[in-house]
Amino acid sequence: MEELIKFTLNGKPVEVTADGDRMLLWVLRVDLGLTGTKYGCGESYCGACTVLVDEKATHSCMTPLKMVQGKSVVTIEGLANNGEMHPLQRAFMENDALQCGYCTPGMILHAYELLKKHPNPTEGEIVNGMEQNLCRCGAHKRIIEAIQAAAQAMKGV
Ligand code: FES
Ligand code: FES
Repeated sequence: MEELIKFTLNGKPVEVTADGDRMLLWVLRVDLGLTGTKYGCGESYCGACTVLVDEKATHSCMTPLKMVQGKSVVTIEGLANNGEMHPLQRAFMENDALQCGYCTPGMILHAYELLKKHPNPTEGEIVNGMEQNLCRCGAHKRIIEAIQAAAQAMKGV
């Protein structure tokens, strides 16, 4: 059933009239043209579709649109601030923490949540915290290093 869903997307209010059971991933990618959020498994296994919903890392492939009514959604397109990359984006780039880049938006947004919980994470906390995000290119070691570098860069922020 079509419903009017109002939420904040990357800091701006949006209104979408759509089937409330349509998955947020497709609303973002198809209806709103934000293709930074990736489709991997569609079954909550890979983390490629991760976005932030009220600052919580969330699999948009399994999140019905109606669940974000009144909430704040942030996608990878919304992480930079006034054209300045977020420290996590910069750290992923500087540490070559990607190969094809398909997993990267989801990795960065999940790492964002991780660093909110653990501003100075141990390697074990990073490994455990990121276990829902898969990288088929095997860049995991550099991803861990990038998250450690971002944590350093964000100290005091
Ligand atoms: S596409 Fe959502 S977890 Fe894989
Ligand atoms: S960089 Fe290719 S899947 Fe992670």
